[in-house]
Amino acid sequence: MPITTCIFDAYGTLFDVAAAARNAAAEPGREAFAAKWPTIAEHWRLKQLQYSWLRAITGEYCQFWQVTEEALDWTLEAEGLDGDAALRDRLLQLYWELEAYAEAPAMLMALKNAGLNRAILSNGSPAMLGAAVHSAKLGDLLDGTLSVESVRIFKPAALVYDMVGTRFGCARDEVLFVSANGWDAAAAAGYGFHVAWINRKGEPVDRLPARPGHVLPDLSGIPALAAAL
Ligand code: LAC
Repeated sequence: MPITTCIFDAYGTLFDVAAAARNAAAEPGREAFAAKWPTIAEHWRLKQLQYSWLRAITGEYCQFWQVTEEALDWTLEAEGLDGDAALRDRLLQLYWELEAYAEAPAMLMALKNAGLNRAILSNGSPAMLGAAVHSAKLGDLLDGTLSVESVRIFKPAALVYDMVGTRFGCARDEVLFVSANGWDAAAAAGYGFHVAWINRKGEPVDRLPARPGHVLPDLSGIPALAAAL
């Protein structure tokens, strides 16, 4: 089946999750944070994902925003920065204004011109995703933003990937799913989507039951891949 629908993970795939910490580190008066912001960004993200997986396993869903706050609180305490309430507020505020990766708008425009459906499928809560899409000016380039809030469980539960067929009425093999998260790419491949894993850092492929069929260094090759499948 030709590809009719391109589905994108949000955080780390269309939106640069490290941008919140990077931008805060560049602000005056943040020397202690600036010295270790890459570690803090990495640990914040890892804790956020771990909490989402654990809540999916135990059935204790909450909005991704709560997971994001709790992961940041753990990370700031681990780094001895939990007394800096202004830093916490600033990092959380910047999460609502994340930048899109530079090649994202032109890539989405090319898919739009090719007549393909384009949507986000994300753990993010609807308000977070709406703010990120707005601040990155991607709204006109997307047909929709699908949030796990509709099914109240996080990725990689299959119920989340089911939302694509429900929304677009397409078969699994008509979908090109794009994620920079190796575990999300693996789960989507096991589900039956065509998958492109965006591997910006040249990391090893995750050792999980399924592997993504395609590995790209950034988003720019997605329109050509969708046309070739
Ligand atoms: C998302 C996370 C997994 O957007 O990046 O769903």
